[in-house]
Amino acid sequence: MTQEQFDILFNKAKEIMLTSKDPVHNWGHIQRVIKNAQEILKKLPLDIQEKVDEKLLILCCAWHDVSHASCAPGFIQKFLEGRRSAKIINEFFSTANVKESEKFLVADNAIRHTMKELRFLGKSNLSIYHKIMQDADWLDNFYAPRVAQLEAQVKKSLYAFVVIKFLKPLFYNWQKNNMHLFLNFKETTAVYLESKK
Ligand SMILES: [Fe+2]
Repeated sequence: MTQEQFDILFNKAKEIMLTSKDPVHNWGHIQRVIKNAQEILKKLPLDIQEKVDEKLLILCCAWHDVSHASCAPGFIQKFLEGRRSAKIINEFFSTANVKESEKFLVADNAIRHTMKELRFLGKSNLSIYHKIMQDADWLDNFYAPRVAQLEAQVKKSLYAFVVIKFLKPLFYNWQKNNMHLFLNFKETTAVYLESKK
């Protein structure tokens, strides 16, 4: 990944996410996920840090929710978001002549992060990029203003209504109190606790 490719693709993701139709998946969410990922990376053992190309990690974060910019939130989007994002990623990364392996990694991150709610059933064999990005994304589920943004959509979105009125009371606090079941790294819990100080 060259600096020029990174700049083009980072700026393109920013341009797209700034116009997102979904206030829960917008540029603000992406900025927080990138910051979380960088904080997690800094806390990991040096031998793991050395394996990570930070530019590629930032692009995984920047593009992971890209389909939300053009698709309204809802049940269909929830099921298709990963595939839809991967299609957009393939298009822009091909135009920027990114290596196939790097393009695949960013697209695969977008596809596989959609199942992170089921992680407690068993941690799969993901790459270090998948693991860091998913933990960084997971932490933003507990960013209070973002939860308030979803609550504000309850009256106009059946999807938001179901999530807030049924799923949140059942699972939200359980997930918050049992983060270790969902997170890939114990270091991510430390990042979360520091953000609460
Ligand atoms: Fe996300």
